[in-house]
Amino acid sequence: MEIGSEFWLQNIPEEDFFKEVPDWLSKYGDTILTSSGRGAISLFLQQVTPQHKSVLLPAYICDSVILPFIEQGYTCYLYEVDEKLSPIIENIEMYENIGVFFHMGYYGFQTNFNLLKVLRYFQKQSTIIIEDVTHTLFSQFNRYEENDFYVGSIRKWFGVPSGGFLASSKRIVKRPVSINYDFSMLRTTALTNKGKYMKTNDDSLKSLFLSQFSNAEILLNEDLNPYCIDSSSIILINSLDVDELISRRRENFKVLLEGLESISYLTSPFKYLANNECPLFYPVMVKNNRNYVRKKLIDEKIYCPIHWPVPAQIKVTDLSSTLEVYNTILSIPCDQRYGKVEMDRIISILRSI
Ligand SMILES: Cc1ncc(COP(=O)(O)O)c(C=O)c1O
Repeated sequence: MEIGSEFWLQNIPEEDFFKEVPDWLSKYGDTILTSSGRGAISLFLQQVTPQHKSVLLPAYICDSVILPFIEQGYTCYLYEVDEKLSPIIENIEMYENIGVFFHMGYYGFQTNFNLLKVLRYFQKQSTIIIEDVTHTLFSQFNRYEENDFYVGSIRKWFGVPSGGFLASSKRIVKRPVSINYDFSMLRTTALTNKGKYMKTNDDSLKSLFLSQFSNAEILLNEDLNPYCIDSSSIILINSLDVDELISRRRENFKVLLEGLESISYLTSPFKYLANNECPLFYPVMVKNNRNYVRKKLIDEKIYCPIHWPVPAQIKVTDLSSTLEVYNTILSIPCDQRYGKVEMDRIISILRSI
């Protein structure tokens, strides 16, 4: 069986209740579901008028986060992260006249734990503070009271056609007016075809669902406007077994933590898992030849994404420690689809390299 890559759907459960927002999202305040994370960022930008049209973002970031800011005419500044993926505070302190401060924890961990002083400073300056909780959605640590908004992409965690959100405990969030049917339909078809492929192993389906997933991403990049989430996705989000998701990911992560510890060409920014943390992936830094290691895993049908390639909008010459992160990091799947057997398979292949 292959490990990693896109999730799948075998059927959409029918429920007679129609709760819009589950508790694991409503805890962030007034919460509006959108079709994607970037749509939620665009929705945020439609609702705020910062004192300066500028944003300070972490330099370790996915390009889909930068795009909505650029499209809205914001000047984007970047702060670096260190090898543990924590913000470099001296770097943040160099900037003035920032309209929006954007921060996040990575991979399920509170890597942004060191921001309190900086956030208090920004709050005094009336800078709007937004935390992206995409990676820490199911971790249960306390968030900063200084945050004005929360944003996230839900669809990274399980099989769901669309899913992002914008929330605030300080303001009422306005909802988008329309649904992006093309995007939701295409993702539903892709997820269902992958579901059929997982059941039948019919190889002719593979190129079909891969191109459908990739076309859906193209649709997202071409249209950054905020859209409502579709109704099937609301049902799936509300019927998610969160406890199962958290416990499986934690178990898998612990197996990888122990099994990969002794491999000399790998290091991980995270050495243990606290009770309130739920991992997105198990990230490793591959010191030499990441492509070779990734390829060896692909040969065994284990698909490890790279979060992320350096976004086209960032000049590599402007990066120092963050460039090392971009160049070495590899994300090993540890999600709820898998158990100890699959984690052991990953470990034995990595040990054999
Ligand atoms: C941290 C983070 N926030 C937001 C997004 C955008 O989410 P979406 O792909 O749902 O638009 C991404 C996408 O990868 C992301 O990594």
